[in-house]
Amino acid sequence: MGINHHYNQNNQPCPNCPTKRLVTWVLCALIPLALLHFYIFPISPTENPPLITETTLENSKPINPLDKEAKPKSQPAQPLCDYFNGNWVKSTIEPLYNGTSCGTIKKGQNCMVHGRPDTGYLYWRWKPENCEIPTFDPALFLQLIKNRHIAFIGDSMARNQLESLLCLLATKSKPELVYRDSEENKFRRWVFKEYNTTVSVFWSPFLVKGFEKSAASGLSHNKLYVDVADEKWASDLHKFDIMIFSIGHWFLHPAIYYEGENVLGCHHCPEFNHTEIGFFGVFQKAISTTLKRVKEELNGSDKLVVVTTFSPAHFEGEWDKAGACPKKEPYKQGEKDMEYMDTEMRKVQIEEVTTVAKEVEAAKGRLRVEALDVTKLAMMRPDGHPGPYMNPNPFAEGKKERVPNDCVHWCMPGPIDSWNEILLEIVKRWSN
Ligand SMILES: *[C@@H]1O[C@H](CO)[C@@H](O)[C@H](O)[C@H]1NC(C)=O
Ligand SMILES: *[C@@H]1O[C@H](CO)[C@@H](O)[C@H](O)[C@H]1NC(C)=O
Ligand SMILES: *[C@@H]1O[C@H](CO)[C@@H](O)[C@H](O)[C@H]1NC(C)=O
Ligand SMILES: *[C@@H]1O[C@H](CO)[C@@H](O)[C@H](O)[C@H]1NC(C)=O
Repeated sequence: MGINHHYNQNNQPCPNCPTKRLVTWVLCALIPLALLHFYIFPISPTENPPLITETTLENSKPINPLDKEAKPKSQPAQPLCDYFNGNWVKSTIEPLYNGTSCGTIKKGQNCMVHGRPDTGYLYWRWKPENCEIPTFDPALFLQLIKNRHIAFIGDSMARNQLESLLCLLATKSKPELVYRDSEENKFRRWVFKEYNTTVSVFWSPFLVKGFEKSAASGLSHNKLYVDVADEKWASDLHKFDIMIFSIGHWFLHPAIYYEGENVLGCHHCPEFNHTEIGFFGVFQKAISTTLKRVKEELNGSDKLVVVTTFSPAHFEGEWDKAGACPKKEPYKQGEKDMEYMDTEMRKVQIEEVTTVAKEVEAAKGRLRVEALDVTKLAMMRPDGHPGPYMNPNPFAEGKKERVPNDCVHWCMPGPIDSWNEILLEIVKRWSN
């Protein structure tokens, strides 16, 4: 049986499947163990060189966004930009950083340094239909988060986005790593001294209390407590000014779900006598529990909560065959429909964000809750993944039939830098 059916283009591999929902969980049950390592966070200390950047600090006087020069003449109330619909357009703008100029790129995403030969994927910009996204301005971003703490919370996609942001900001000011947990690197914290800014990352792939399946834990499935926020981040909530939540892919794995004392059901658990309930509903509960906790603690404060929506994978067939994500260019608008699962995952996130934003508004709270709606622009970038370049120089000894591919995470530099360009727009609006 082909592994990774779940990611196949074809939504209907079995003609007799009764419902799409059922199809999805059946397919998702086939996620190979081998894929797990993409989601597993730990890297050894030797893989993580000390933070080095080639940034020089001279003349880095921060731009005050309120300075007249830095601001358009007057600011008429502009309609909100719809970032969701748009096109990737060719660009000649060089990425702000590269694989050697930034010390915080996890090896698996350092495509250039790992010998990815083509560079076309670096020269595209996301162009929403009715607005423009300015190129990333690190000085402005740092100015906006001066004296603030910005936390990325979630799985390896959260980390991917965090590392992109650090690399972008490091072109202006050098972050200093001030904390990291033992060898696993699941929790790290940096400061930008010049700005008194803290940036941190929290590993919490379900956001709710959970136990991850792994060889070490002896669990063959995840265990989730969908009504309990994960204290690993929740107990620090009061410290954050901006929080970015990003989860999704871990929900595809086999799991048992608990709510209170009860077993709600499970996903792909033939060895247990629990009802298969898929994962969309559980994903919804996890996001809801998360936002509820944030709202309860922070509703009165003018903090910013951002949920980065689901980032689709692009496997074409088996994950370990050569050319598992071979595309070299983005899809054009309308060229490719969003897959059912990606649509559903995003929908859950948008719905929960909208619900909580309305509740806060109704209660006259000052908390800002927004979605960073990247699902579609991510879906249109099959060319932006490390593929075989998750490992260094995979073809040094010539062509291969079988080679591990990462078609989930994003090369850095790469499309994920655009997520942070949109994040800057969100932060700008929030701070006005
Ligand atoms: C990476 O960036 C640094 C600093 O901007 C530059 O000196 C170096 O030539 C760049 N390397 C590549 C491969 O582009
Ligand atoms: C630095 O930022 C923290 C919040 O992250 C704030 O409490 C503190 O007052 C700031 N320090 C200065 C000197 O502004
Ligand atoms: C599984 O659950 C069903 C229905 O609750 C019950 O009738 C059956 O005895 C259970 N089987 C086992 C092995 O626990
Ligand atoms: C708002 O926050 C206060 C504490 O700051 C809390 O007691 C209250 O329950 C919150 N309200 C809502 C609607 O979450």
